[in-house]
Amino acid sequence: MKLNICCIGAGYVGGPTMAMIAHKVPSAKVTVVDINAERIAAWKSDKLPVFEPGLQEIVEGCRDKNLFFSTDVDAGIQEAEVIFVSVNTPTKTYGMGAGKAADLRYVELCARRIAEVANGTKIVVEKSTLPVRTAASIQRILHQNPKGHQFQVLSNPEFLAEGTAIQDLENPDRVLIGGNEDEGGRAAVETLASLYAEWVPREKIITTNLWSSELSKLTANAFLAQRISSINSISALCEATGANVDEVAHAIGKDSRIGPKFLKSSVGFGGSCFQKDILNLVYLCQHFGLPEVAEYWEQVVRMNDLQKRRFSERIVKTLFNTVSGKRLAIFGYAFKKDTNDIRESAAIYICRDLLEEKAQLAIYDPQVEPAAIYESLGLTSEEERSRIEICPSPYDAAKKAHAIAILTEWDIFKTLDYEKILSSMARPAALFDGRNILSLTELRKIGFEAHGIGKA
Ligand code: NAD
Ligand code: UGA
Repeated sequence: MKLNICCIGAGYVGGPTMAMIAHKVPSAKVTVVDINAERIAAWKSDKLPVFEPGLQEIVEGCRDKNLFFSTDVDAGIQEAEVIFVSVNTPTKTYGMGAGKAADLRYVELCARRIAEVANGTKIVVEKSTLPVRTAASIQRILHQNPKGHQFQVLSNPEFLAEGTAIQDLENPDRVLIGGNEDEGGRAAVETLASLYAEWVPREKIITTNLWSSELSKLTANAFLAQRISSINSISALCEATGANVDEVAHAIGKDSRIGPKFLKSSVGFGGSCFQKDILNLVYLCQHFGLPEVAEYWEQVVRMNDLQKRRFSERIVKTLFNTVSGKRLAIFGYAFKKDTNDIRESAAIYICRDLLEEKAQLAIYDPQVEPAAIYESLGLTSEEERSRIEICPSPYDAAKKAHAIAILTEWDIFKTLDYEKILSSMARPAALFDGRNILSLTELRKIGFEAHGIGKA
């Protein structure tokens, strides 16, 4: 399919998504543009700005053939027939809706830029996650373009999860496309559907009206996060009663109506989207006069906050109510395995709590850059940075430590030599498995004071 495509935003979604389109549709020309010159330079280099298994190979296979990265946003807009908008939509930190509503300024800037520089008819695709009815605002901005060009706005939310982005993009559960319910809208939907149909079976391509598509994305994330908060709420009860949350999750997951996925109890969900998207949903409900519905969803985020807090408290309580001056090893800093992303990672909250209690942290993560860790903890001066040590291996981190906290479920943590680790630690040595990836029985056998989530 011959199509000239531009994507504004070269982030965790824009980069991998466009790389997959270029890979699957060699006749399409795909250009990813961004105002962040450093990011664009990284996409052109050997060290991509996003770590995802399989991504490097796909990018290297298409780059400078039919996949291009550029800071020239205007040229990208002008050359393209289809423009994806995949910029960040963080929680607003100022003004009306602060702390809940999505900050749409980057999306609006894109729409204004497209309206200003476009040289013909374009399809504009919302790839970013947006509040329901954002397409109406984008349409208004676009239609007031000075040259009278026609635009079609589509909603095509992305459902990939980090760490499995390539397999999710290659074999998605579904592709969702929302458009206007008129002739122009239907034609635009068909153009985008045909692009995906180059590798996604037609029955997996769902088409809806614009508002259903926009709202489905927020709803999907809210439902997924709700499952985690539900099992995490039960983990608190398990710790109090002697039930084991993994056994409860297994037992309930066997019910085909419930299903086994997304029932892994943890130190709390992280990532750039779950919290932001639920808060956005909460804001929308409040805005549309539905306070009870808003409260219902807000509780999912509250439960997640509680889960993180409970974990830090358990560490402090177990270590004789003080961690002041104690070395604590942190295994994993990314918000989940197989990504270098730390946005809203539970590790940030746990480490902050422990630093507040004056602990000395020794952190190991296989992919996260030290600079990102320092920044996330607000450690700017040399003196502040000396409160944490970023270690080259988990073995180094554990040396002389009083406890280990596993905060990311990296596979490497499952196969470490824990006897060797224990022999290098202070005594008594505790291990807090915030991801339930190890056997507490085995750890106790070799002499650890072992704790998991939802386990007595
Ligand atoms: P990101 O922060 O990694 O990337 C966004 C990029 O957009 C940045 O590089 C930024 O420089 C660029 N940008 C911002 N304004 C711009 C402008 N005016 N012109 C050009 N470039 C601009 O964000 P992300 O994680 O890729 O998320 C993007 C969107 O996709 C969000 O709405 C998010 O909710 C949604 N989403 C994310 C994921 C995920 O796994 N990260 C999954 C599904 C959906
Ligand atoms: C999530 C959704 O899964 C994607 O479908 C969606 O596109 C994306 O958000 C988004 O909109 O950004 P992501 O956040 O990348 O993807 O990763 P998840 O696998 O959903 O994990 C999110 C968090 O929940 C992680 O911290 C993970 O460790 C935690 N989690 C996940 C649990 O604690 N228990 C589980 O059973 C599953």
